[in-house]
Amino acid sequence: MKNTDSRENFSGSIAAVLALAGSAVGLGNLWRFPYLVGENGGAAFILIYIILAITICLPVMMGEFIVGKRSQSNVFRAYTSLTSSGFWRIIPVFSIFSVILVLSFYSVVGGWGVEYLVKSLTFSFTRNGAQSELGSMFSDFVSNPYKPLVFHTLFLGMTAAIVAFGIKKGIEKFSEVMMPTLFILIIIIAIRSITIPGANQGLKYLFLPDFSKVDSSVIMKALGQAFFSLSLGCGTVVTYASYVKKETNIIRCTGTTALFDTGFAVLAGCAIMPAVFAFGINPSEGPGLVFVTLPHIFSQMPVGGLIAIIFFFALLIAALTSSISLLEVVITFLTEELKISRTKAVILSFFLFWILGALCSLSQGVLSDLKIFGMNIFDFMDYVSANILMLSGGLLTVIFAGWVLGPKIIREELTNNGSLKVPLWLVNTMLFCIRFIAPVGVLAILIFS
Ligand code: ALA
Repeated sequence: MKNTDSRENFSGSIAAVLALAGSAVGLGNLWRFPYLVGENGGAAFILIYIILAITICLPVMMGEFIVGKRSQSNVFRAYTSLTSSGFWRIIPVFSIFSVILVLSFYSVVGGWGVEYLVKSLTFSFTRNGAQSELGSMFSDFVSNPYKPLVFHTLFLGMTAAIVAFGIKKGIEKFSEVMMPTLFILIIIIAIRSITIPGANQGLKYLFLPDFSKVDSSVIMKALGQAFFSLSLGCGTVVTYASYVKKETNIIRCTGTTALFDTGFAVLAGCAIMPAVFAFGINPSEGPGLVFVTLPHIFSQMPVGGLIAIIFFFALLIAALTSSISLLEVVITFLTEELKISRTKAVILSFFLFWILGALCSLSQGVLSDLKIFGMNIFDFMDYVSANILMLSGGLLTVIFAGWVLGPKIIREELTNNGSLKVPLWLVNTMLFCIRFIAPVGVLAILIFS
């Protein structure tokens, strides 16, 4: 069943790429990627990440794009509209669960970003710059029962407001303005970071691989991060692709998105690691890297107050362009399946995610003793979504595209029925990656780690 009558479209390929890149570039790049790089051996992790992004994640993204573009449906209906087999209903279950888990903790971390933007605007780091003080500032804030909830509400409210305006006037307009801004901001910070005396140690850490720290768990983390960063397996690519025009060039659109996302992650590494090394700080600080270590560095470096404002503003924009894509998955589902208006769907989702996010936030403080498989609610949502649900959803989608839709349909989609001049070798390589490399690669990594 296609929902073509009342559906909006992105205005063109550039708008679609900016929206997709906005979905991909987010907290994953600015918050998760730098600390994973720091914890897992620097350049070796980045190299493995890039190889996995090209050989596995790009084909998965193409598979998801094909499903969305061909079905022009919400994630729940997309798979069943392309096959009569009921088995594939399982994929949207993974997608919907992962989007619910990700957006819940995402909104909490986005809220931390809002709070830290306010702190940087009031120059709080420059006044209390000692790392221990900033560490307590962060842990007091996240474990406070009320304050993070206020910022979670603000962040979720901004996300909901943008999505309420719809595809063209909301998501497209916001991404069109904010994505170029985001790249300019991160380049400014990277230039500041690599020009600090002593920064070259950090650059070596980012670009000279040391494979001694690499084991199967590092490969698994790199794959989980690449899926998270490219928003795979959670329905956002399927949903956004369902809004593109039929003449969209899939290889160009997904390839550019993967390039932007990976380029941005490396730029974020360049914005953070050289400064971390220049100030003699251990890079493996974990999730607190961005909220404790960086504010300390900002307090020490020349024009650090201004750089802090730019950094947390960039973090907020990046988080918002991603959270709107996560929310849109749910909104498209609710409006098309329950036939309710976009405004009602946004209000309903706001309450759902507010409650789940609140539980996540409280798990950093008053609910910290509540454990699921030994993890608090926040860590559980982060772990299960990135390492299990997104991977499984993405794996099943690429199998679906490669083996259920099959080579004929993939060729048709990659060349728009032969109307695009895509070289034959490129189409065949992508087809091979979609059918063999990506599924076997994900399975092998899942089994061996
Ligand atoms: N792809 C989004 C991010 O990396 C979820 O933050």
